Amino acid sequence: MTALSDIYSRLPDNIDDLPKPMTPEDVAEADRRARHWSSSIPGPLRPGSPEHKKAVADMFRETFNPYKPSVIDWPELDPQTLRRITSLPIWDIAVQTEGKARLRMAAYARVIDDPDMKDAISRNAWEENRHKEVLSRLVEAYGIEMAPEPPYIEPDDVEWAYLVTGFSECVDSFFAFGLFRVAEDSGFFPPELIETFEPVMQEECRHILLFANWLAWYRATMPLWRRPWFEAKVVAVWAFLAWERIGLARSVDADGVEHTQDNNFTVSGAKDMSADDLSLPDFLQLCLSEDERRFSGYDERLVRPTTTPAIAKALVFVLGLFGKRPGGSALKTAAA
Ligand SMILES: [Fe+2]
Ligand SMILES: [Fe+2]
Repeated sequence: MTALSDIYSRLPDNIDDLPKPMTPEDVAEADRRARHWSSSIPGPLRPGSPEHKKAVADMFRETFNPYKPSVIDWPELDPQTLRRITSLPIWDIAVQTEGKARLRMAAYARVIDDPDMKDAISRNAWEENRHKEVLSRLVEAYGIEMAPEPPYIEPDDVEWAYLVTGFSECVDSFFAFGLFRVAEDSGFFPPELIETFEPVMQEECRHILLFANWLAWYRATMPLWRRPWFEAKVVAVWAFLAWERIGLARSVDADGVEHTQDNNFTVSGAKDMSADDLSLPDFLQLCLSEDERRFSGYDERLVRPTTTPAIAKALVFVLGLFGKRPGGSALKTAAA
């Protein structure tokens, strides 16, 4: 049986053959292609059809950016910025999330029979491994103290693990898009770090686009008798995610020091990163517009993740009933 590390550390077309950019234009062109993609297949792309499935795999392969994100010569930071960045309660959870995602995606890719979906999900596992490497190098470069990583255990129920990772990414990416915009606009992160992590954000957008289309394809092609069981599993995954996000994750390092990690940082961190007083409706509205912007370059016939944006819209509506309407500075910058 293939080792999972063989899946997440090697691209189907071999990581060693990744081209080196010849000019800055090559880098800019790869970035543009990662953000814009349409299928040449005419007509509707109905989930369950061979055309849809092929388009999904083509999208994922053809929007791959071979150059970025990459490990950079991490810029020297002034003491204040360094302190601000190293004290964020996210580094352990970020590295571990990427480590878990690469393993779970590789585990699912290994058992899936369909060659198109196998190819796309294997590539997704590889990209998670690249995210983990970039993050690990940043942590090392800035001397961020980390709790030891727990062992990454191969899941018994690979479908459950893939669903948890996929839906988690849908929730976390939606809020991370907004948070990243806040960090950029407020100057919380220096420009070099923004530039390095911007392609990570866009890759997460591609990942959740793949997940939403895999899910639509999976539902459409599964035997009818399996559907009720599967939908019950999806409900259980959402319940699990809600439970997971209620508390803070705590871990203890080798010296007995407790590290507290915030599972909800993508939401709760917005206030810390913004110079202005960012209200919840403003932040949600910012997440919605960033979500739309990041997806806008991809073929409209592909399915989009809808649950988290729908929850955010509902929240904006409910908060509006209590007189809390969006309208702060974050909105103006997002629209710019
Ligand atoms: Fe990732
Ligand atoms: Fe991802």
